[in-house]
Amino acid sequence: MTENDEPAFAPQGIDLERPNAARIYDWFLGGDANWAIDREFGEKALKAVPHGKLNAHVNREFLGRAVTYAVRHGVTQFLDLGSGVPTVGNVHQVADRLDPDSRCVYVDNEPVAVAHSRILLEENGDASRHAVLNADMRDVERVWTEAFETGVLDPAKPIGLLMVAVLHFVSPEDGGEAAVERYRALLPPGSLLIMSHGTTDGVPPEHLVQLESVHEQYKQSSTPVTLRSRAEFTALFGDFALVDPGVVWLPQWRLDEAESEATAEVAHNPPASFMLGGVARKG
Ligand SMILES: C[S@@+](CC[C@H](N)C(=O)[O-])C[C@H]1O[C@@H](n2cnc3c(N)ncnc32)[C@H](O)[C@@H]1O
Repeated sequence: MTENDEPAFAPQGIDLERPNAARIYDWFLGGDANWAIDREFGEKALKAVPHGKLNAHVNREFLGRAVTYAVRHGVTQFLDLGSGVPTVGNVHQVADRLDPDSRCVYVDNEPVAVAHSRILLEENGDASRHAVLNADMRDVERVWTEAFETGVLDPAKPIGLLMVAVLHFVSPEDGGEAAVERYRALLPPGSLLIMSHGTTDGVPPEHLVQLESVHEQYKQSSTPVTLRSRAEFTALFGDFALVDPGVVWLPQWRLDEAESEATAEVAHNPPASFMLGGVARKG
């Protein structure tokens, strides 16, 4: 951080005219890879949804439990699309604790997220097992080719493909559904698709007002949000077999897999997480 409390460097290509999902989410999680414009957005969002920061942690904990589940069930290499600015409990760290030979390639299209991922991996990654790509997840063929060109992933083995809290930034019109369908086709058998997504479906009226307000706010950002229904989100898993308990509110997904402190706080009111999640296996 500089004297005026801004990050010390701004990578090339960063849009500082508008707030951005990666940097807002970083602020919600307590990181310092965000600028005044992102923090103003975050403060305003918290006025509408006072438990907004908690929800970011709830999503992060889902990611941790899903990766834990994957490694425990033999899937030890990961492709994390829309991976974000690294924070506590990054995929490679969760996986490494359970399998020191696990692998991970991170992908994001926000330069700040990519730059911070590079720094983290230089400091505590292993170049033969971890890599980061600056790419748009909709460029499926490019992402797939470059992810394997890193040499980190073994194309013969199942992959844990994560699209956690990213698809609501990629509308059907922008190619969200088509991209996910193509990834499903490319994944080797035995792979796991791990996804979470914002929805208004089933959110009680008092929370719906909060969510709609933030939804409106995101329209002014560089990353507007498309909230899919439960059915639309479930359809993204295609014919993959959903792992128990299926598509549920994040605080309802396999709490026993790993400690989930923030999730415990909203466990009495799962729809207040505004996010559905699920994991499904390719046959
Ligand atoms: C809310 S963050 C989620 C980060 C992480 N997956 C998690 O759940 O903790 C969403 C991330 O998706 C990234 N993103 C949005 N659209 C993307 C796209 N088309 N391609 C790649 N990344 C994208 C954003 O830059 C941001 O880092």
